[in-house]
Amino acid sequence: MFFTYDRCKLICTVFKSRDIEFTSFDGVLSDRPLIVQFASSCVKDFVDAAEFVAQHCDGIDLNCGCPQKWALKSGFGCGLLSQPEIIHDCVKQLRNRLPEHKTVSVKIRLYDDVRKTVELAQSLEAAGVSLLTVHARTPDQRSEPINMDALIDVRKSVSIPVIANGDVKSLVDADYLHNATNCQGIMAARGILQNPGLFAGHKITQLCVIEDWLSMKHPNFFIFHNHLVFMLTQLLTRAERRVFNYLKTAADVVEFIKNKFGIVPKNDFSVSSLKPGAVYDSGKFFLEHLKETENGPEDSEESRDYFEGISDLYI
Ligand SMILES: Cc1cc2nc3c(=O)[nH]c(=O)nc-3n(C[C@H](O)[C@H](O)[C@H](O)COP(=O)(O)O)c2cc1C
Repeated sequence: MFFTYDRCKLICTVFKSRDIEFTSFDGVLSDRPLIVQFASSCVKDFVDAAEFVAQHCDGIDLNCGCPQKWALKSGFGCGLLSQPEIIHDCVKQLRNRLPEHKTVSVKIRLYDDVRKTVELAQSLEAAGVSLLTVHARTPDQRSEPINMDALIDVRKSVSIPVIANGDVKSLVDADYLHNATNCQGIMAARGILQNPGLFAGHKITQLCVIEDWLSMKHPNFFIFHNHLVFMLTQLLTRAERRVFNYLKTAADVVEFIKNKFGIVPKNDFSVSSLKPGAVYDSGKFFLEHLKETENGPEDSEESRDYFEGISDLYI
Protein backbone atom coordinates (compact mmCIF):
# COMPACT_ATOMS: atom_id res chain seq x y z
CA MET A 1 0.00 0.00 0.00
CA PHE A 2 1.29 3.45 -0.76
CA PHE A 3 -0.27 6.00 1.58
CA THR A 4 0.66 9.42 2.86
CA TYR A 5 1.07 10.07 6.57
CA ASP A 6 -2.37 11.76 6.74
CA ARG A 7 -4.00 8.85 4.94
CA CYS A 8 -2.39 6.40 7.39
CA LYS A 9 -3.76 8.43 10.28
CA LEU A 10 -7.22 8.46 8.73
CA ILE A 11 -7.16 4.74 7.99
CA CYS A 12 -6.13 3.89 11.53
CA THR A 13 -8.54 6.30 13.20
CA VAL A 14 -11.67 5.40 11.24
CA PHE A 15 -12.65 1.87 12.17
CA LYS A 16 -14.49 1.11 8.93
CA SER A 17 -11.51 2.21 6.85
CA ARG A 18 -9.10 0.22 9.04
CA ASP A 19 -11.34 -2.79 8.70
CA ILE A 20 -11.33 -2.55 4.89
CA GLU A 21 -7.57 -2.08 4.55
CA PHE A 22 -6.39 -4.59 7.13
CA THR A 23 -8.94 -7.37 6.92
CA SER A 24 -8.77 -9.94 4.21
CA PHE A 25 -11.19 -12.57 5.40
CA ASP A 26 -14.78 -11.38 5.56
CA GLY A 27 -14.50 -9.15 8.59
CA VAL A 28 -12.70 -11.69 10.76
CA LEU A 29 -9.16 -10.74 11.76
CA SER A 30 -7.90 -14.27 11.25
CA ASP A 31 -5.36 -13.65 8.54
CA ARG A 32 -2.35 -12.96 10.75
CA PRO A 33 0.50 -12.21 11.07
CA LEU A 34 -0.08 -9.08 9.02
CA ILE A 35 2.92 -6.98 8.01
CA VAL A 36 2.29 -3.56 6.49
CA GLN A 37 4.87 -2.30 4.02
CA PHE A 38 5.73 1.35 3.43
CA ALA A 39 7.55 3.09 0.65
CA SER A 40 9.15 6.27 1.92
CA SER A 41 12.31 8.30 1.54
CA CYS A 42 11.72 10.43 4.63
CA VAL A 43 12.69 8.95 7.97
CA LYS A 44 10.30 11.10 10.02
CA ASP A 45 7.25 10.47 7.80
CA PHE A 46 7.98 6.76 7.73
CA VAL A 47 8.45 6.41 11.47
CA ASP A 48 5.42 8.58 12.39
CA ALA A 49 3.11 6.79 9.93
CA ALA A 50 4.44 3.35 10.81
CA GLU A 51 3.86 3.97 14.52
CA PHE A 52 0.17 4.65 13.87
CA VAL A 53 -0.28 1.63 11.68
CA ALA A 54 1.70 -0.71 13.93
CA GLN A 55 -1.10 -0.66 16.50
CA HIS A 56 -3.20 -2.64 14.03
CA CYS A 57 -0.72 -5.09 12.56
CA ASP A 58 2.15 -7.35 13.60
CA GLY A 59 5.05 -5.68 11.87
CA ILE A 60 6.24 -2.93 9.56
CA ASP A 61 8.33 -3.40 6.43
CA LEU A 62 10.23 -0.80 4.41
CA ASN A 63 10.23 -1.25 0.62
CA CYS A 64 13.74 -0.85 -0.78
CA GLY A 65 13.09 -3.08 -3.77
CA CYS A 66 10.52 -1.48 -6.07
CA PRO A 67 12.26 -0.60 -9.37
CA GLN A 68 9.31 1.18 -11.04
CA LYS A 69 10.06 4.59 -12.52
CA TRP A 70 7.58 6.48 -10.38
CA ALA A 71 9.13 5.06 -7.21
CA LEU A 72 12.69 5.81 -8.31
CA LYS A 73 11.68 9.36 -9.19
CA SER A 74 10.54 9.95 -5.61
CA GLY A 75 13.57 8.19 -4.14
CA PHE A 76 11.37 5.30 -2.92
CA GLY A 77 11.84 1.58 -3.38
CA CYS A 78 15.26 0.61 -4.67
CA GLY A 79 15.99 4.34 -5.08
CA LEU A 80 16.70 4.13 -1.34
CA LEU A 81 19.57 1.71 -1.94
CA SER A 82 21.68 4.70 -2.98
CA GLN A 83 21.03 6.19 0.48
CA PRO A 84 21.71 3.29 2.85
CA GLU A 85 22.02 5.70 5.79
CA ILE A 86 18.31 6.58 5.39
CA ILE A 87 17.35 2.89 5.46
CA HIS A 88 19.49 2.46 8.56
CA ASP A 89 17.87 5.46 10.31
CA CYS A 90 14.36 4.31 9.38
CA VAL A 91 15.02 0.95 11.02
CA LYS A 92 16.82 2.34 14.07
CA GLN A 93 14.23 5.01 14.86
CA LEU A 94 11.23 2.77 14.26
CA ARG A 95 12.77 -0.01 16.37
CA ASN A 96 13.08 2.47 19.24
CA ARG A 97 9.43 3.44 18.94
CA LEU A 98 7.74 0.05 18.54
CA PRO A 99 7.19 -2.57 21.23
CA GLU A 100 9.55 -5.51 20.94
CA HIS A 101 6.90 -7.97 19.73
CA LYS A 102 6.29 -5.93 16.55
CA THR A 103 8.75 -6.71 13.76
CA VAL A 104 10.66 -4.08 11.79
CA SER A 105 11.79 -5.51 8.46
CA VAL A 106 13.22 -4.36 5.15
CA LYS A 107 12.89 -5.73 1.62
CA ILE A 108 15.87 -5.07 -0.64
CA ARG A 109 17.32 -5.86 -4.04
CA LEU A 110 21.01 -6.56 -4.58
CA TYR A 111 23.71 -4.00 -5.31
CA ASP A 112 25.93 -4.76 -8.32
CA ASP A 113 28.71 -5.35 -5.80
CA VAL A 114 27.56 -8.09 -3.44
CA ARG A 115 29.89 -6.78 -0.72
CA LYS A 116 27.72 -3.66 -0.53
CA THR A 117 24.62 -5.82 -0.01
CA VAL A 118 26.40 -7.64 2.81
CA GLU A 119 27.43 -4.30 4.36
CA LEU A 120 23.84 -3.06 4.20
CA ALA A 121 22.51 -6.27 5.75
CA GLN A 122 25.02 -6.02 8.60
CA SER A 123 24.29 -2.35 9.18
CA LEU A 124 20.54 -3.06 9.34
CA GLU A 125 21.13 -5.90 11.75
CA ALA A 126 23.07 -3.48 13.96
CA ALA A 127 20.15 -1.01 13.68
CA GLY A 128 17.78 -3.66 15.04
CA VAL A 129 16.04 -5.04 11.96
CA SER A 130 14.02 -8.19 12.74
CA LEU A 131 14.35 -9.85 9.33
CA LEU A 132 15.46 -9.05 5.82
CA THR A 133 13.83 -10.08 2.54
CA VAL A 134 16.17 -10.17 -0.43
CA HIS A 135 14.92 -10.15 -4.03
CA ALA A 136 18.10 -11.60 -5.50
CA ARG A 137 18.36 -9.29 -8.51
CA THR A 138 19.86 -5.84 -8.94
CA PRO A 139 17.46 -2.94 -9.69
CA ASP A 140 18.34 -3.16 -13.40
CA GLN A 141 17.67 -6.88 -13.70
CA ARG A 142 14.24 -8.21 -14.70
CA SER A 143 14.21 -11.67 -16.25
CA GLU A 144 17.82 -12.63 -15.52
CA PRO A 145 18.18 -15.63 -13.20
CA ILE A 146 18.36 -14.74 -9.51
CA ASN A 147 21.79 -14.60 -7.85
CA MET A 148 21.84 -17.51 -5.39
CA ASP A 149 25.45 -16.93 -4.39
CA ALA A 150 24.58 -13.42 -3.25
CA LEU A 151 21.71 -14.82 -1.15
CA ILE A 152 24.11 -17.25 0.48
CA ASP A 153 26.65 -14.48 1.21
CA VAL A 154 23.99 -12.25 2.76
CA ARG A 155 22.49 -15.09 4.79
CA LYS A 156 25.90 -16.10 6.16
CA SER A 157 26.81 -12.52 7.06
CA VAL A 158 23.98 -11.92 9.58
CA SER A 159 22.20 -13.73 12.40
CA ILE A 160 18.72 -12.37 11.68
CA PRO A 161 16.41 -14.43 9.43
CA VAL A 162 16.86 -13.82 5.70
CA ILE A 163 13.93 -14.47 3.35
CA ALA A 164 14.93 -15.42 -0.20
CA ASN A 165 12.83 -14.05 -3.05
CA GLY A 166 12.78 -14.46 -6.81
CA ASP A 167 11.28 -16.80 -9.40
CA VAL A 168 9.55 -19.25 -7.06
CA LYS A 169 6.74 -20.63 -9.23
CA SER A 170 6.13 -23.98 -7.51
CA LEU A 171 6.71 -25.86 -4.28
CA VAL A 172 9.63 -27.61 -5.99
CA ASP A 173 11.21 -24.18 -6.73
CA ALA A 174 10.67 -23.15 -3.11
CA ASP A 175 12.32 -26.33 -1.78
CA TYR A 176 15.18 -25.90 -4.22
CA LEU A 177 15.82 -22.27 -3.22
CA HIS A 178 15.62 -23.19 0.45
CA ASN A 179 18.05 -26.08 0.10
CA ALA A 180 20.45 -24.10 -2.09
CA THR A 181 20.65 -21.00 0.13
CA ASN A 182 19.67 -22.27 3.57
CA CYS A 183 17.75 -19.01 3.98
CA GLN A 184 15.25 -19.05 6.83
CA GLY A 185 12.26 -18.26 4.63
CA ILE A 186 11.08 -18.20 1.02
CA MET A 187 8.88 -15.51 -0.51
CA ALA A 188 6.90 -15.81 -3.74
CA ALA A 189 5.03 -12.97 -5.46
CA ARG A 190 4.01 -13.70 -9.07
CA GLY A 191 3.90 -17.45 -8.44
CA ILE A 192 1.48 -17.20 -5.54
CA LEU A 193 -0.63 -14.51 -7.22
CA GLN A 194 -1.09 -16.87 -10.16
CA ASN A 195 -1.57 -19.92 -7.95
CA PRO A 196 -2.55 -19.20 -4.34
CA GLY A 197 -2.14 -22.92 -3.51
CA LEU A 198 1.54 -22.89 -4.53
CA PHE A 199 2.94 -23.63 -1.07
CA ALA A 200 0.40 -26.44 -0.63
CA GLY A 201 1.89 -28.08 -3.72
CA HIS A 202 -0.92 -27.28 -6.19
CA LYS A 203 0.26 -26.74 -9.77
CA ILE A 204 -2.46 -24.26 -10.85
CA THR A 205 -5.27 -22.33 -9.17
CA GLN A 206 -7.97 -24.68 -7.93
CA LEU A 207 -11.53 -23.82 -8.94
CA CYS A 208 -12.61 -23.82 -5.28
CA VAL A 209 -10.21 -20.89 -4.76
CA ILE A 210 -11.98 -18.95 -7.52
CA GLU A 211 -15.33 -19.79 -5.93
CA ASP A 212 -14.12 -18.56 -2.52
CA TRP A 213 -12.74 -15.38 -4.09
CA LEU A 214 -16.06 -14.64 -5.80
CA SER A 215 -17.82 -15.06 -2.47
CA MET A 216 -15.53 -12.84 -0.38
CA LYS A 217 -15.90 -9.18 0.52
CA HIS A 218 -13.66 -6.91 -1.60
CA PRO A 219 -12.89 -3.23 -1.10
CA ASN A 220 -13.23 -2.32 -4.79
CA PHE A 221 -13.53 -3.69 -8.32
CA PHE A 222 -9.82 -3.35 -9.04
CA ILE A 223 -8.78 -5.73 -6.27
CA PHE A 224 -11.61 -8.15 -7.13
CA HIS A 225 -10.77 -8.24 -10.84
CA ASN A 226 -6.99 -7.88 -10.70
CA HIS A 227 -6.45 -10.93 -8.49
CA LEU A 228 -8.68 -12.96 -10.79
CA VAL A 229 -6.53 -11.79 -13.73
CA PHE A 230 -3.56 -13.36 -11.95
CA MET A 231 -5.34 -16.48 -10.71
CA LEU A 232 -6.82 -17.28 -14.11
CA THR A 233 -3.57 -16.79 -16.06
CA GLN A 234 -3.02 -20.51 -16.49
CA LEU A 235 -6.69 -21.45 -16.72
CA LEU A 236 -7.57 -19.28 -19.73
CA THR A 237 -6.34 -19.22 -23.30
CA ARG A 238 -4.66 -16.08 -24.58
CA ALA A 239 -7.83 -15.12 -26.46
CA GLU A 240 -9.92 -15.61 -23.31
CA ARG A 241 -7.49 -13.52 -21.27
CA ARG A 242 -7.88 -10.71 -23.82
CA VAL A 243 -11.60 -10.67 -23.03
CA PHE A 244 -11.40 -11.30 -19.30
CA ASN A 245 -8.65 -8.79 -18.51
CA TYR A 246 -10.66 -6.05 -20.17
CA LEU A 247 -13.94 -6.62 -18.26
CA LYS A 248 -15.17 -3.57 -16.41
CA THR A 249 -17.97 -4.67 -14.08
CA ALA A 250 -18.25 -7.30 -11.40
CA ALA A 251 -21.42 -8.63 -13.04
CA ASP A 252 -19.52 -9.25 -16.31
CA VAL A 253 -16.71 -10.98 -14.39
CA VAL A 254 -19.18 -13.26 -12.62
CA GLU A 255 -20.96 -14.05 -15.90
CA PHE A 256 -17.65 -14.88 -17.64
CA ILE A 257 -16.61 -17.25 -14.86
CA LYS A 258 -20.04 -18.88 -14.74
CA ASN A 259 -19.93 -19.55 -18.50
CA LYS A 260 -16.34 -20.78 -18.49
CA PHE A 261 -16.16 -22.85 -15.30
CA GLY A 262 -19.77 -23.21 -14.13
CA ILE A 263 -18.85 -21.46 -10.87
CA VAL A 264 -21.07 -18.87 -9.19
CA PRO A 265 -20.52 -16.86 -5.97
CA LYS A 266 -21.90 -18.54 -2.84
CA ASN A 267 -23.61 -15.20 -2.13
CA ASP A 268 -23.99 -11.98 -4.10
CA PHE A 269 -22.68 -9.75 -1.33
CA SER A 270 -19.32 -8.83 -2.82
CA VAL A 271 -20.26 -8.35 -6.43
CA SER A 272 -23.41 -6.35 -5.81
CA SER A 273 -21.54 -3.73 -3.80
CA LEU A 274 -18.57 -3.21 -6.14
CA LYS A 275 -18.66 -0.04 -8.16
CA PRO A 276 -17.63 -0.56 -11.82
CA GLY A 277 -14.10 0.57 -12.55
CA ALA A 278 -13.55 1.92 -9.02
CA VAL A 279 -9.97 2.95 -8.15
CA TYR A 280 -8.32 1.67 -11.28
CA ASP A 281 -9.62 1.22 -14.77
CA SER A 282 -7.87 -1.65 -16.48
CA GLY A 283 -9.35 -0.62 -19.84
CA LYS A 284 -7.85 2.85 -19.42
CA PHE A 285 -4.52 1.26 -18.60
CA PHE A 286 -4.65 -0.65 -21.86
CA LEU A 287 -5.57 2.40 -23.92
CA GLU A 288 -2.78 4.43 -22.34
CA HIS A 289 -0.32 1.80 -23.43
CA LEU A 290 -1.44 1.49 -27.02
CA LYS A 291 1.34 2.67 -29.31
CA GLU A 292 0.45 4.79 -32.33
CA THR A 293 2.29 3.35 -35.35
CA GLU A 294 2.15 4.00 -39.10
CA ASN A 295 -0.31 1.12 -39.36
CA GLY A 296 -2.53 2.48 -36.58
CA PRO A 297 -2.58 1.61 -32.89
CA GLU A 298 -0.52 -1.39 -31.86
CA ASP A 299 -0.14 -3.14 -28.52
CA SER A 300 2.82 -1.82 -26.58
CA GLU A 301 4.94 -4.22 -24.56
CA GLU A 302 3.00 -3.17 -21.45
CA SER A 303 -0.41 -3.88 -22.94
CA ARG A 304 0.76 -7.24 -24.28
CA ASP A 305 2.00 -8.07 -20.79
CA TYR A 306 -1.33 -6.99 -19.40
CA PHE A 307 -3.18 -9.40 -21.64
CA GLU A 308 -0.71 -12.17 -21.05
CA GLY A 309 -0.94 -11.75 -17.28
CA ILE A 310 0.19 -8.47 -15.82
CA SER A 311 2.54 -9.63 -13.13
CA ASP A 312 5.78 -8.92 -14.96
CA LEU A 313 4.97 -5.22 -15.07
CA TYR A 314 5.69 -4.93 -11.38
CA ILE A 315 9.09 -6.47 -10.90
C1 LIG B 1 1.75 -7.47 -8.77
C2 LIG B 1 3.01 -7.28 -7.99
C3 LIG B 1 3.05 -6.31 -7.00
C4 LIG B 1 4.21 -6.13 -6.26
N1 LIG B 1 4.21 -5.21 -5.25
C5 LIG B 1 5.28 -5.13 -4.45
C6 LIG B 1 5.25 -4.28 -3.31
O1 LIG B 1 4.26 -3.58 -3.04
N2 LIG B 1 6.35 -4.27 -2.52
C7 LIG B 1 7.46 -5.04 -2.77
O2 LIG B 1 8.41 -5.01 -1.98
N3 LIG B 1 7.52 -5.82 -3.86
C8 LIG B 1 6.45 -5.89 -4.69
N4 LIG B 1 6.51 -6.70 -5.78
C9 LIG B 1 7.76 -7.43 -6.10
C10 LIG B 1 7.73 -8.80 -5.42
O3 LIG B 1 7.64 -8.67 -4.02
C11 LIG B 1 8.96 -9.64 -5.75
O4 LIG B 1 10.11 -9.05 -5.20
C12 LIG B 1 9.19 -9.84 -7.24
O5 LIG B 1 7.96 -10.02 -7.92
C13 LIG B 1 10.10 -11.06 -7.48
O6 LIG B 1 9.55 -12.20 -6.90
P1 LIG B 1 8.75 -13.31 -7.77
O7 LIG B 1 9.72 -13.83 -8.78
O8 LIG B 1 8.31 -14.34 -6.76
O9 LIG B 1 7.60 -12.60 -8.42
C14 LIG B 1 5.37 -6.90 -6.54
C15 LIG B 1 5.32 -7.85 -7.55
C16 LIG B 1 4.16 -8.05 -8.28
C17 LIG B 1 4.15 -9.09 -9.35
